[in-house]
Amino acid sequence: MRISRRTLLLGAGGLAVIGVGGYWLTEGRSSGGGTSFTTPLRIPPLAESEVVDGERVFRLAARAGETELVPGVQFATMGFNGVHLGPTIRAARGERVRMHVTNELDVPTTAHWHGMILPATEDGTPHQSIAPAATWTAAWQIDQPAATLWYHPHPHGQTELQVGRGMAGLFLVDDDDESPDLPSEYGVDDIPLIIQDIAVRPGGESAGTPTASPIGRIGNTPIVNGTYRPHLRASSGLVRLRILNASAARCYNLELSTGEPLLLVGTDGGLLPSPQSVQRVFLSPAERAEVLVQLPPGSDLVLRSVPHDLGMSSGDDTASGADNTLDILRITTPSDTTAREVPTTLPSAVLPALADAMTERRFMLGNTTINGRVMDMDRIDTTIVAGATERWTIMNTSDRAHNFHIHGAQFAVHRVNGEKPAAQNRGWKDTVFLARDDAMELIVPFSSYVDPATPYMYHCHLLWHEDQGMMAQYVLTTDGGDDGADAGTDMGMDGMGMGMDHPGHD
Ligand code: C2O
Ligand code: CU
Ligand code: CU
Repeated sequence: MRISRRTLLLGAGGLAVIGVGGYWLTEGRSSGGGTSFTTPLRIPPLAESEVVDGERVFRLAARAGETELVPGVQFATMGFNGVHLGPTIRAARGERVRMHVTNELDVPTTAHWHGMILPATEDGTPHQSIAPAATWTAAWQIDQPAATLWYHPHPHGQTELQVGRGMAGLFLVDDDDESPDLPSEYGVDDIPLIIQDIAVRPGGESAGTPTASPIGRIGNTPIVNGTYRPHLRASSGLVRLRILNASAARCYNLELSTGEPLLLVGTDGGLLPSPQSVQRVFLSPAERAEVLVQLPPGSDLVLRSVPHDLGMSSGDDTASGADNTLDILRITTPSDTTAREVPTTLPSAVLPALADAMTERRFMLGNTTINGRVMDMDRIDTTIVAGATERWTIMNTSDRAHNFHIHGAQFAVHRVNGEKPAAQNRGWKDTVFLARDDAMELIVPFSSYVDPATPYMYHCHLLWHEDQGMMAQYVLTTDGGDDGADAGTDMGMDGMGMGMDHPGHD
């Protein structure tokens, strides 16, 4: 049984923390139109940096403490350069960056640059663990298009705890090619939204325990950039929202309360060739979307998450929060806002095509396994020729919903159950959602950072599954090697996959 931490306020700010057992059910809340959303949306500060010998140098420190995430309710939290969340890191394509990460926690951690294409030694995986009081340094040259990436810890078996307590920040890559018409004033019309869910006991007077579900722990209260019931007072007729689902397990199906479409301009790894009008954007943990929202004068609307289908039994979907309607963010504009044009074209992403993919691999997602195995840090599961483009077919053969993330790469989604993917999977991706029985074909161009000794990961990004070992490792070599484990796994699974009759997969 898990123990929740109950915090009571005693007199003049004195704190007492007592543990109480038990679970608290997720409340299905109906959308109240967000009128009670009055706290100004916090904007994570931009990380300071200095340029030394041609490198942009950042310093991060992992810290723990307590944060009043809900008025009057203290939560045990963790963050970078603070005790909840982390500053927004910003660097340009072509720049060399150097990150110094000091661990001020009393447990090991890591700093992983999610979505970044970089050498495996700099990736911040469990293989680059940072001991308490130690400093780890990563350095690389940014070599990918403008995108909304993020960073978070990746300690083996402890990721849900650390990310769940708030260790997450955005890493924005800028590119000169970016459309000049896109809103780009950070915190003004270019707004980061880091969505997490926390558990508050009914009545809201104290912290609760997230509900256990087949996909991990689900909170009952969304927060954005650490803000409870946030309100964004926009001064512009067009805002760009850079949305990150930094929750451990909860998925969000986002729409505007006005029924107006969202204009999708970017996915995990970059911008789309042109804005795509969509009614909803579905984000599983770790996925990002950049959307534009047009705001006529005097707007008062809510970005909310509405019920969705995770493809499990209805009881499991309900336990996983799929039935909830949750107000996420209220956005208002003054009556004298001036309208702004929506850009019609964006720098086009040149996605790899199927013809580029030479090697095919299949990955079967079990309840907490990939190809029947759990993570072993000493086992290389897949050996890939550096610079190669591969076709990866991911099949969710389990009873649960999952997602699938590949480190060190951005990929294209070729087919979802045999069909062309929906708009939100048509740009660069590093994480994709798979409901039960889904099959997805990915075209993955791997980088040319050869390092047979240091693996990258691929895994389910539902953090409880990840911590359970739903993760595997690949290395990039010059010749692909003939690693025994790799040959065994992939050939075996290819054989299985061939004769298999999978829905929508021909
Ligand atoms: Cu967000 Cu292994 O990554
Ligand atoms: Cu990652
Ligand atoms: Cu999973």
